[in-house]
Amino acid sequence: MARFLVQKSEPLNGEVKISGAKNAVLPLMAAALLSEGTCRIMEVPQLKDVEVMKDILISLGATIEEVEEDILDISFPDVIENEADYDLVSKMRASFLVMGPLLSRTGRAKVHMPGGCTIGARPIDLHLKGFRALGAEIIQKDNYVEAIAPEGGLVGESVYLDFPSVGATENIMMCAALAQGTTYIVNAAEEPEIVDLANFLNKMGARIKGAGTDTIKIEGVTSMKGAYHTVIPDRIEAGTFMLAGAITRGQILIHNIVPDHVKPITAKLRECGVIVEMGDEGMYVVADQKPLRATDIKTLPYPGFPTDIQSPFMAFLTTVEGSSTVIETVFENRFMHVAELNRMGANIKTSGNKAIIHGGRHLEGAQVIATDLRAGAALVLAGLVADGTTEISEIYHVERGYEKFINKFKALGASILRIDD
Ligand code: UD1
Repeated sequence: MARFLVQKSEPLNGEVKISGAKNAVLPLMAAALLSEGTCRIMEVPQLKDVEVMKDILISLGATIEEVEEDILDISFPDVIENEADYDLVSKMRASFLVMGPLLSRTGRAKVHMPGGCTIGARPIDLHLKGFRALGAEIIQKDNYVEAIAPEGGLVGESVYLDFPSVGATENIMMCAALAQGTTYIVNAAEEPEIVDLANFLNKMGARIKGAGTDTIKIEGVTSMKGAYHTVIPDRIEAGTFMLAGAITRGQILIHNIVPDHVKPITAKLRECGVIVEMGDEGMYVVADQKPLRATDIKTLPYPGFPTDIQSPFMAFLTTVEGSSTVIETVFENRFMHVAELNRMGANIKTSGNKAIIHGGRHLEGAQVIATDLRAGAALVLAGLVADGTTEISEIYHVERGYEKFINKFKALGASILRIDD
């Protein structure tokens, strides 16, 4: 089983380039299902999740050409499969994103219930609410979901999301793109990845307005063509490296970062006393000034503090004197890293969705488990400042979502090794 061995490292120093966003590229790839021509996606990160999405699209009939390491051409024949392979879909929750475009293009879609990180129940009721509103009949049976469009085709409607779900907003937006009439998604997610998807769909011929606000208007079109698109930078990877600089009290220059996308992380790091400044070349994170201060965070849908940065930020807070409170409001089971950080000497107490961190602790290397993708990143950060060696297992979670993870950390001076026995 592959593991990371992380040694206490000097303050990280140097430059890092952020890759294309995992959470943007997966829906963009699914959106290619709607196109009658070839879609070219650029700045595609090399990730396990991207490989899974490629395999799913190929199983539906796609031809995918790797033009360059980070450029994919995706095209589909006129007639495509409408059942997504069960084994593939169960590997990754985001594979459920093929449901909306498949239903829209073929009138029928059958997809296994999705898998993914175990950070909560992660239901799909809001996705299905959207498909139903557009007229689809939904059959849920034996761990799969089937959606069937009415005889005359899907028809636009107003869909209110009880929670601004990222995946549901994307799935409904893709489904509505080829429906008749106008769809409104009300209380839509406003994440940058939603805007990126809407931009791509519009290049393909869709008519979408309001992405990035809480109401998205989609006027259905009858066909969509191929388009070129560059994936936005990964704001979660960027946040992880901002925290790598902060936790090691280092100095890092981050290239390919959109400052607006990381605003809440920047604000919280500044509250702690870390210098975060945008320069001509990128974002500078400087944390060698002492002492840093504790702060409180509460995760929220965008533009609130991202849930995906909660665990890396918590790792950082364990190193700052004073008490901090972290409240998780997006997922109900996203404190699994707490037990692992405590195993390393942190003092974190949880009660429901609230964690209290008594910071300024001396961390010791230990054997810990990457319980989910971002928890794995948090443990790497903690390992960089813990005495001795931190051995992290189940790192496949981390490799699902961070491109060239080890190499990027090593280039900044981190002592980290991947072993596979
Ligand atoms: C996406 C991101 C993930 C991030 C999350 C929240 C991708 C591939 N993944 O996941 O990294 O942590 O947004 O920013 O983009 N919910 C329902 N019913 C639904 C759908 C969701 O109740 O039908 C709930 C979920 O259980 C969760 C909350 O809504 O509590 C947020 O989930 P959602 O925004 O859908 O996250 P994902 O799209 O799965």
